[in-house]
Amino acid sequence: MLALNEQREAVGAGAGRARAQVDLCDVRHKFAGGEFLFRPLNATLLPGQRYALTGASGSGKSTLLSILAGWLDPSEGTVLRHGLQSIGWVFQNPHGSARRSVVDHVVLPLLATGASRRHAETQARLVLEAFQLAHRADDAFSVLSGGEAQRLMLARAVASSPDLLLVDEPTAQLDMRTAETVNTALQLVSAGGSIVVVATHDERTADACDQTIALSE
Ligand SMILES: Nc1ncnc2c1ncn2[C@@H]1O[C@H](COP(=O)(O)OP(=O)(O)OP(=O)(O)O)[C@@H](O)[C@H]1O
Ligand SMILES: [Mg+2]
Repeated sequence: MLALNEQREAVGAGAGRARAQVDLCDVRHKFAGGEFLFRPLNATLLPGQRYALTGASGSGKSTLLSILAGWLDPSEGTVLRHGLQSIGWVFQNPHGSARRSVVDHVVLPLLATGASRRHAETQARLVLEAFQLAHRADDAFSVLSGGEAQRLMLARAVASSPDLLLVDEPTAQLDMRTAETVNTALQLVSAGGSIVVVATHDERTADACDQTIALSE
């Protein structure tokens, strides 16, 4: 695997990025007819940092990700987004196009940003190498293992280098070794200057983050 700084250069991450920041001020949420899910949250989320959202099932981790994304307004409190131009989301169950090649999953979002096919393909292959997926580049998405598919989704996220990356349960159902590579991948994304927020039940993933925001004991 390439050294982390080489990987960062490979993905061209962080170049020209405005300084993003997200402030949570006394944020709480309850759905109609329900109780508040978590205590009032206060936090400042900064670039280059990984934040673990921990808590029991139903404590509101995915809900808080939706609030951070701006898809859901919190019932109380405010979310202030400074310099936030792009948000990426890696869902728990990797969704890909079964017959499309692995490399095309990374190429397509790069093309959408205006890159030429040639440049996008070169970049995509470098990113896949950083995520230990180079040998899979020309295979169809459908033949990937769960862990490979999860890494591909992270590779795609790092290629588009969002200011804020939201990741929901990236290591659920993965073996320890595969989970380790996902944790390394998260480190790579934050090293590129993204704010990374990861909802997780996995203590090792939480330990691999810079800070933990606990939604329940
Ligand atoms: N759209 C909704 N309407 C009503 N209740 C909801 C809605 N979405 C989630 N909930 C409820 O809010 C609570 C928190 O859900 P959420 O999915 O945020 O939990 P979680 O911490 O991510 O759980 P898990 O670890 O199982 O993924 C749950 O009780 C859930 O049923
Ligand atoms: Mg959840």
